[in-house]
Amino acid sequence: MNRKNIEKIDELRKKHNVIILAHNYQLPEIQDIADFLGDSLDLAIKATKTDAENIIFCGVDFMAESTKILNPDKNVIHPDIEAECPMANTVNPNELLKLKNSTPDAEVVSYINTTAETKAISDICCTSANGRKVVESLSSKKIIFVPDKNLGAYIQRHVKDKELTIWPGVCPTHHRIRKEEILRIKKMHPDAEILVHPECRPEVIDISDYALSTNGMVNYVKKSDANGFIIGTEKELCYRLKNENPDKIFYPIKKAICPNMKKITFEKVLNSLESLEPKVELPEELMEKAKVPLKKMMDIGRGD
Ligand code: 13P
Ligand code: SF4
Repeated sequence: MNRKNIEKIDELRKKHNVIILAHNYQLPEIQDIADFLGDSLDLAIKATKTDAENIIFCGVDFMAESTKILNPDKNVIHPDIEAECPMANTVNPNELLKLKNSTPDAEVVSYINTTAETKAISDICCTSANGRKVVESLSSKKIIFVPDKNLGAYIQRHVKDKELTIWPGVCPTHHRIRKEEILRIKKMHPDAEILVHPECRPEVIDISDYALSTNGMVNYVKKSDANGFIIGTEKELCYRLKNENPDKIFYPIKKAICPNMKKITFEKVLNSLESLEPKVELPEELMEKAKVPLKKMMDIGRGD
């Protein structure tokens, strides 16, 4: 990357008191300039611990929204507001409210990959790092889980004493990862460990060594004695894994690309650093309601 541009980023970041938070699926050019890289849970936690007045969030909309909800008094800037998570948009809040009202003895658990409107009618949120721990912590036997059917099925297989009613949403990027592709790579590299995200299909999880959140994978790889890893999640995580473990080998799934994560580019971040726009704006009342399930989730912490 052009050294002048990096210097410009550093100068503006200091001048405007900005912290750049970025998700593990961001392009290498964004990972290289981030102050903090993480999964959804660690990014939400980090966002509540910064003194910076302005947060530039490099990721998709629900992540930037969660950052704003947790920091209503700060400027949260999302360099491309069209970077949306299609799975988050599969939940119709009115339909969810109907389901909730028709099952008064159930608690609603929403994956953090949801809109602020969905969070506002949920009892608690979760991420891929603590879904099982969150569901286990609840007193109700009946749970309404939105929106990822693969993550819901993964939680249900581990938490036998709860009955999950699961929304039929999927992440197109993870649903595209097929068992046959992983087995094909495994055949070529039989000693490689298979790590997959719990948003993958159940039959993909079945053939894996571990199902983990993205930071769960980052933490696992550091302590594993294995030398090679087949990474069943969005392929850009491999850039971070390789940077942090230069002696280890990572086999990505080439088709596993989230096009929305790729909408955030170096140029757009530079523009945002100059203008401190576009800002995430949400109605105050909505933020207050959506903050409750997010805070409850954060009190539970990581489970992986
Ligand atoms: P993580 O929280 O595990 O990083 O996952 C976020 C996500 O969007 C997965 O597709
Ligand atoms: Fe949403 Fe899937 Fe992209 Fe994650 S990878 S942001 S769940 S579309």
